[in-house]
Amino acid sequence: MSAQSRKVLQVLKGETLSPPPIWLMRQAGRYLPEYRQTRKQAGSFLDLCYSPEMAVEVTLQPIRRYGFDAAILFSDILVIPDALKRNVRFEEGHGPRMDPIAAEEIGKLDVKPVSSHLRPVIETVARLRQELPVETTLLGFCGAPWTVATYMIAGQGTPDQAPARLFAYRHPKEFDRLLALLADVSADYLVEQIDAGADAVQIFDSWAGVLGESEFKRYAVEPVRRMIDSVRARRPQAKIIAFAKGAGILLKDYRQATRADSIGLDWSVPLSFAAELQKDGPVQGNLDPMRVVAGGQALDEGIDAILQRLGHGPLIFNLGHGITPQADPDHVSRLVARVRGTSA
Ligand code: CP3
Repeated sequence: MSAQSRKVLQVLKGETLSPPPIWLMRQAGRYLPEYRQTRKQAGSFLDLCYSPEMAVEVTLQPIRRYGFDAAILFSDILVIPDALKRNVRFEEGHGPRMDPIAAEEIGKLDVKPVSSHLRPVIETVARLRQELPVETTLLGFCGAPWTVATYMIAGQGTPDQAPARLFAYRHPKEFDRLLALLADVSADYLVEQIDAGADAVQIFDSWAGVLGESEFKRYAVEPVRRMIDSVRARRPQAKIIAFAKGAGILLKDYRQATRADSIGLDWSVPLSFAAELQKDGPVQGNLDPMRVVAGGQALDEGIDAILQRLGHGPLIFNLGHGITPQADPDHVSRLVARVRGTSA
């Protein structure tokens, strides 16, 4: 076995593998009792993200349990606003909070300390590459500028990102400046992850789906294109997955415009359309995470439909969004076995 046997990486290079490789978004998380155990010891969620030892441990937990084909660095997209001194905290039962940014503050953001603030995360990547099985692909990640900006503006999660949409209409210049700044620091951060040993990276644009057509081009496509160009200018071989949740038919142009190697598909993307997208290159997705909660027939049928429609082209099997805390760990075992054709 060698680095050549990293299946997720092989698919990102355009190969079709049967069975397809599998990993799950948020595969390290609260549905696993061993995660909840480490999480309790860590104190705050950010302490967990910035402790290489504990972050390595929780990244490896789902690999040990299920033997996924890829490990994703344990961290969060909000370490970037944290590094930008936005007072990020994760409150029990409330999700993330930070100080909402005003238009006048954007020009004053200081990017200089970002890289040193994120050193522990880069250290986690380096240690992971040492500790992972050689055949496991190591994925780094960051948030897309639009999604990170929605949290910076609202100061918290919201159902439809109305505060960020309104801000963008009222303060278009400042908003463009914020997205460009986030694109630049995030590109540097991805290059550091790649240099530390990440085989590929994923850009999460979890809130792309709330944007209108022209805003999607300006706020989802442009900044991600800028990031990918910047990474490729320095690391031409970099493999990049872009996940624009809720982008629907706009995904057709998204891959071409951003030049991502693979696009992530959420569960609302029809499989007929997914098959069309797959003609342009590898796709990743797109099982509804609720099927993993339900288990049984709902799980099996969802898996089979994806394998049937997308299994004959370059596919990385995944969920259409992160696995939820109420998922049963045994359902995940069943999912992995069924995708690999090893179920009883
Ligand atoms: O996928 C993995 O296993 C790697 C780790 C990872 C986390 N967050 C850990 C986490 C990744 C890749 C993320 C990405 C992330 N974080 C996104 C993009 C993907 C998505 O799910 O849409 C977003 C929008 C965030 C921001 C974020 N972090 C929110 C909204 C929350 C609170 C909601 C929730 O699920 O609790 C978090 C917290 C968070 N990030 C947890 C984990 C395991 C749970 C917190 C805890 O353990 O206390």
